[in-house]
Amino acid sequence: MTTTKSKVLVVGGTGYMGRRIVKASLAAGHPTYVLQRPAPEIGLDIDKLQLLLSFKKQGANLVEGSFSDFRSLVDAIKLVDVVICTMSGTHIRSHNILLQLKLVEAIKEAGNIKRFLPSEFGMDVARMGNALEPGRTTFDDKMKVRKAIEDAKIPFTYVCGMSFAAYQAGNLCQMQTLLPPKDRVLMYGNGDSKVIVMDEDDIATLVGKKLERVSLSKQDFLASIKGMDYANQVGAGHYYAMYYEGCLTNFEIGEEGEEASKLYPEVKCTRMDEFMKIYA
Ligand SMILES: NC(=O)c1ccc[n+]([C@@H]2O[C@H](COP(=O)([O-])OP(=O)(O)OC[C@H]3O[C@@H](n4cnc5c(N)ncnc54)[C@H](OP(=O)(O)O)[C@@H]3O)[C@@H](O)[C@H]2O)c1
Repeated sequence: MTTTKSKVLVVGGTGYMGRRIVKASLAAGHPTYVLQRPAPEIGLDIDKLQLLLSFKKQGANLVEGSFSDFRSLVDAIKLVDVVICTMSGTHIRSHNILLQLKLVEAIKEAGNIKRFLPSEFGMDVARMGNALEPGRTTFDDKMKVRKAIEDAKIPFTYVCGMSFAAYQAGNLCQMQTLLPPKDRVLMYGNGDSKVIVMDEDDIATLVGKKLERVSLSKQDFLASIKGMDYANQVGAGHYYAMYYEGCLTNFEIGEEGEEASKLYPEVKCTRMDEFMKIYA
């Protein structure tokens, strides 16, 4: 584990991913800065404000800045060595990944940043060229941001977290729900994609009954997407890539990447049966 401390600015710090990054940065002892958007942008969002104040209580520095005020971004960036952006990219809430192009410009202008981690944290978007519409918007937009970063010659790390457990594990990979199924579980094809191990016996033990396994063919899955609204079509495209095409595991990590468990051997993995106990 590295002991070097860097001044870190988290942009998007009150979000789902961002609050975890702020917590981890503080826990690792990095001087941590969080972009606080100005009052009109926070509006009456009391939870956002409370979260920001709780960061401050834990030792973070709140720095006011806005994507509609370029100078404020440059000034905030000048305070730190590393910028981590966790801008919203989730179709379920909002999708603002392209706002990061302004951040890239500001980092370029500031000229002091040693490393930028853009809002990635999902699939390796460079491998998602064949993803279904409209879900591929997420990947295409993240690729535009990558290109801008590389064109500006900003040192970067792309963190590919693959699939978040709370979105994909707790629900046993079922769409349009976050909770574990209680009666039957839909299998994508044979359910043999190497993406996530689905152990229905474990969950069945927890809910006290055996789940019925229902297999959904690729054709039926694709046909079912047509009737969905936009947000669900985006999500379904991601499911298709993961469970029918196995996009999370069907490649080798080349020299340009590093497998995270090798970089952070101190992080202990949670077994699926342990993870599922929270839903019991
Ligand atoms: N692999 C997976 O399964 C998975 C799942 C979910 C997300 N992700 C990825 O993780 C990343 C973060 O997503 P998230 O779900 O954590 O995002 P989120 O909670 O929806 O939003 C993160 C932050 O984006 C900022 N934001 C949103 N709209 C904005 C606007 N108009 N102007 C300025 N700031 C705005 C806000 O920052 P403030 O704190 O300043 O208000 C918000 O807290 C994305 O790249 C997403 O694709 C991956």
